[in-house]
Amino acid sequence: MSVHTEIKRITTSTLKSFKEKGIKISCLTAYDYSMASIVDTAGIDLILVGDSASNVMAGHETTLPITLDQIIYHAQGVVRAVKRAFVVVDLPFGSYQGNSEEALRSAIRIMKETGGHAVKMEGGKEIEESIVRILSAGIPVMGHLGLTPQSIYKFGTYTVRAKEEEEADLLKSNARLLADLGCFGVVLEKIPNKLASEVTASIDIPTIGIGAGAGCDGQILVIHDMLGINKDFSPRFLRRYADLHSVMSEAFTNYIADVKSGDFPSEKESY
Ligand code: KIV
Repeated sequence: MSVHTEIKRITTSTLKSFKEKGIKISCLTAYDYSMASIVDTAGIDLILVGDSASNVMAGHETTLPITLDQIIYHAQGVVRAVKRAFVVVDLPFGSYQGNSEEALRSAIRIMKETGGHAVKMEGGKEIEESIVRILSAGIPVMGHLGLTPQSIYKFGTYTVRAKEEEEADLLKSNARLLADLGCFGVVLEKIPNKLASEVTASIDIPTIGIGAGAGCDGQILVIHDMLGINKDFSPRFLRRYADLHSVMSEAFTNYIADVKSGDFPSEKESY
């Protein structure tokens, strides 16, 4: 007799119920099959195929260069690996800001070609029409407010956003708008703890924080950052859960030495 263990998939309803029950939502980025498989098996709730792939996978300074085709490629690998987590795919810069028709076309390509479960878009009121159109096609949308890296050249820096009342008020009204439109969640990036907590209490959809304090309904980190693969990036909000840079460097150094000395491969490692 075989024992059939069914894995219960995370959905937008699961995420909403987590908020209602006060269960924190764990999220990480992933950009490829192998990493996504490890993260999913560990039990993460949500995986974001973020446009941060532009930085950590391709080595660009900003998230702006990544294309729709490239994010689709990354998302396809992630979706193939994932059995339980809810997979959200970033709409890259330039794939939705033009008009709502272009936005819908981009979102449909992501859903059709990757098998992902939702898209994420940066902004509030200014992209309302596009959000409405994508939602009306039955595609779940996650918002992203605060520090929105696709607008880095407007901000000029990656420092904390919405410290002043005017920007904080705008963020609050945009968060309410996203919730009212029907977004299933919103990322709050690099904003004061107090503001993030107020926003979280004021809307009925989950808030996912990165550099936004403990008051959010969930947390997200870029996987390369939390694994310590990139030694040089250490903002205050980042907690490193491993030092993979050292672990990998040591493995590579040892391998090189073994190849050079003839120690690898041994008799046992040969046919
Ligand atoms: O692209 C990304 O990794 C993100 C997270 C920082 C939320 O948008």
